[in-house]
Amino acid sequence: MNIPKKLYIETYGCQMNFSDSEIVGAIMKENNFDITFDKKEADVIFINTCSIRDNAEQRVRKRLLELRSLKKTKKDLIIGVLGCMAERLKEQLIEEEKIVDIIAGPDAYRNLPQLLSSVKSGNKAINVLLSVEETYADISPVKYDSNGVNAFISIMRGCENFCSYCVVPYTRGKERSRNAETIINEAKELFEKGFREITLLGQNVNSYIWKSGEELVNFTNLIEKVALIDPLLRVRFATSHPKDIPDELLFTIAKYDNICKAIHLPVQSGSNHILELMNRKYTREYYMSRIEAIKKIIPDCAISTDLIAGFCSESEENHIDTLSLMEWAKFDFVFMFNYSERPNTAAAKKLKDDVPEEIKLKRLQQIIVLQQKLSKESNNSDIGKTFKVLVESISKKSTEHMSGRNSQNKMVIFPKINNKPGDYVNVRITKCTAATLIGEIVE
Ligand code: 5AD
Ligand code: SF4
Repeated sequence: MNIPKKLYIETYGCQMNFSDSEIVGAIMKENNFDITFDKKEADVIFINTCSIRDNAEQRVRKRLLELRSLKKTKKDLIIGVLGCMAERLKEQLIEEEKIVDIIAGPDAYRNLPQLLSSVKSGNKAINVLLSVEETYADISPVKYDSNGVNAFISIMRGCENFCSYCVVPYTRGKERSRNAETIINEAKELFEKGFREITLLGQNVNSYIWKSGEELVNFTNLIEKVALIDPLLRVRFATSHPKDIPDELLFTIAKYDNICKAIHLPVQSGSNHILELMNRKYTREYYMSRIEAIKKIIPDCAISTDLIAGFCSESEENHIDTLSLMEWAKFDFVFMFNYSERPNTAAAKKLKDDVPEEIKLKRLQQIIVLQQKLSKESNNSDIGKTFKVLVESISKKSTEHMSGRNSQNKMVIFPKINNKPGDYVNVRITKCTAATLIGEIVE
């Protein structure tokens, strides 16, 4: 028998990348590889990378530097760089990082076994071809680093929105939807294996569309099909583009108890001038009207967003527009970033990255401080309420406690009784911090 070789995969960046690493895991398993969590025993190391901001790339560069010594002691070790950084930098990365043997873009993972073979004959191997149809639809991802409760399913790939700051349309290529049947089957299999929460992933899930015979399946139809698998299976999704989120979807979320009441709707900025330069294709007023629709149709829905501080030409007044929008929307949670110019994007070509670094940092800090206050207020208003919580794991801070999430995606901590991951418990909230709700189990 052929003894399996050992593969170590390290993933950076977004959830989509983690999901891609599970696809890579499946492809490699088919080709006589086992996944190891100890890189010292690995025959092959893959680093799945992110290019969204410069610091994401810098982290990978640092990692590659650290891997040099391992490669010195282990001459046959093969190192591959996968994902967005591979796609963006192509052969340049092999020239700059001498220890890298393989470069594979996000649509080239089926080709990894061949790339490995050609490295074994002493070459460097590269495939950065983007595809218009690859969705890895038929591949059952290997859940190699999972708590057995939460799973992620990619339902589409790529993005064609071309927000001016964003590298994704260049690194992940054209938008394409995955066969709906394979998505439903994967969700059913995961449920049967004990998973209780599935997040449907795509750069812009609201443009999901699949023609199944005579039936046209849009995102609302798809999420409904997943919700109908079993009432014990929770469904989440990310990410929606504000220009595309329809009322029809909001009504479906309201209708099903197991579709989670949490919407991530990245706004990026509260200023119309900046939104226009970002090519976001909506105004502050339109965004506000979508938030109003969510609050009206799903009153208990949590809303989260992404914000970028210090985009090109952002004035103090534009920044204040962002702060006032945050106050108005009362976001429950925000991912907050400094603008980082990405080579070859429309912003890099046509606009000046002219907000000084210290001003970017100052504005980001103001955004963070305000959001801390808003998150704390949002959590305070949950004190006294009872939530159905999906148990995920032992609490990180105390083995006497467990943690899970409510439908609104807030982390809830409660004393351990007889619960195990995957159970649902009702928790009455008694205390909170800005990041967590703390409570006790009630019948
Ligand atoms: N600089 C800073 N943040 C960015 N994002 C995307 N591109 C950039 C960039 N160049 C942020 C956006 C997006 C999130 C995934 O990352 O807020 O919604
Ligand atoms: Fe980037 Fe905009 Fe596409 Fe999101 S929608 S991946 S920010 S281009």
